[in-house]
Amino acid sequence: MYKAKAYAAASATSPLARTAITRRDPTEHDIQIEILYCGICHSDFHTVRNEWKDFLPTVYPCVPGHEIVGRVTKVGSAVKKFKTGDIAAVGCMVDSDRTCPECRAGLEQFCPNFVLTYNFPDKHVGGVTYGGYSDSIVVDQRFVLRVPPNLNLAGAAPLLCAGITTYSPMHHWGVTKGKKAGVVGLGGLGHMAVKFAHALGAHVVVFTTSPGKKDAAMRLGADEVVISRNADEMQKHADSFDFILDAVSAEHDINAYINLLRRDGNLTLVGAPEKPLPVAAFPLIMRRRSLSGSPIGGIAETQEMLDFCGKHNITADVEVIPIQKVNEAYDRLMKSDVKYRFSIDMASLKSE
Ligand SMILES: NC(=O)c1ccc[n+]([C@@H]2O[C@H](COP(=O)([O-])OP(=O)(O)OC[C@H]3O[C@@H](n4cnc5c(N)ncnc54)[C@H](OP(=O)(O)O)[C@@H]3O)[C@@H](O)[C@H]2O)c1
Ligand SMILES: [Zn+2]
Ligand SMILES: [Zn+2]
Repeated sequence: MYKAKAYAAASATSPLARTAITRRDPTEHDIQIEILYCGICHSDFHTVRNEWKDFLPTVYPCVPGHEIVGRVTKVGSAVKKFKTGDIAAVGCMVDSDRTCPECRAGLEQFCPNFVLTYNFPDKHVGGVTYGGYSDSIVVDQRFVLRVPPNLNLAGAAPLLCAGITTYSPMHHWGVTKGKKAGVVGLGGLGHMAVKFAHALGAHVVVFTTSPGKKDAAMRLGADEVVISRNADEMQKHADSFDFILDAVSAEHDINAYINLLRRDGNLTLVGAPEKPLPVAAFPLIMRRRSLSGSPIGGIAETQEMLDFCGKHNITADVEVIPIQKVNEAYDRLMKSDVKYRFSIDMASLKSE
């Protein structure tokens, strides 16, 4: 065991503050990583504020962060995939049972016994897992990813959650050339969804509540931008979408988007607001439309996504911040004021 520096929330109402946490020494299959960058996901915020208490209550202190990129500092004797000095990445999961049908199918995100990167029981050190707002982490090699060498590391970190969470459902639902794809909410997930849908060749329409994001949406790869509070603009797209990805973090009217799907179109929710969203039956029934959800992605698909990003030179648009500004960043996240992901430069924690 050793001590690592971290930022933690002591309660649902406390700001994040500097602390020391216990990490395990790397065992046979483990990789120890010096964290260079960690993205700030809205899920970090939901968890820190205990907004998902009915589904996954937060255990405090809570060290969030699951968009991790760093350098390997030590490897266990059985590690073949990485050596000291390599760049490595970790996303939302750090373990699973490896034996269930989901794991055997390479879909660890559905494993009933997976271990999330933070706020999940930690069988090695006790308590709960601690995430990437820290200067180091130790993870089993099976859950460590490779970052293509051409990618900027600060911008690559958000791929580990925002990237895979949007890439996976678009693959599943066949977003490709000739399809019309919508993205609701131009935040961290939404802006990655726009980049992927554009790279996959679809006609991309962004729905935003922020008129000021219109130009950026077009630059990111949108073909059209709709200000979602304008009912006339919304109506023009009725019955026309093959697929819509909803990446909104707060309460909103999803029926307005279901109405925009064509027959057999699908709306996938990746946004996870605190409160349930009401769904009207008839708009689904009358066009055989479907509503589904999607969690992150498996390890193999995450690597596939990273390689796709390497090939297409895709990273997140990041605002790099020192960790001392994390509470300010959370306030701005609440106001949808981030273009389009915060990425914490962990050198700032080392010097503290
Ligand atoms: N399914 C998964 O596995 C998974 C993985 C990661 C994250 N998530 C969840 O996905 C959601 C988005 O995460 P994120 O990190 O992308 O968050 P984010 O960067 O804060 O973006 C959320 C966007 O939603 C829109 N929005 C916010 N409040 C709204 C409101 N009241 N009404 C309508 N639109 C609103 C805003 O876009 P505009 O300004 O364009 O309107 C905002 O930029 C969160 O709930 C997060 O927990 C799920
Ligand atoms: Zn996330
Ligand atoms: Zn499993």
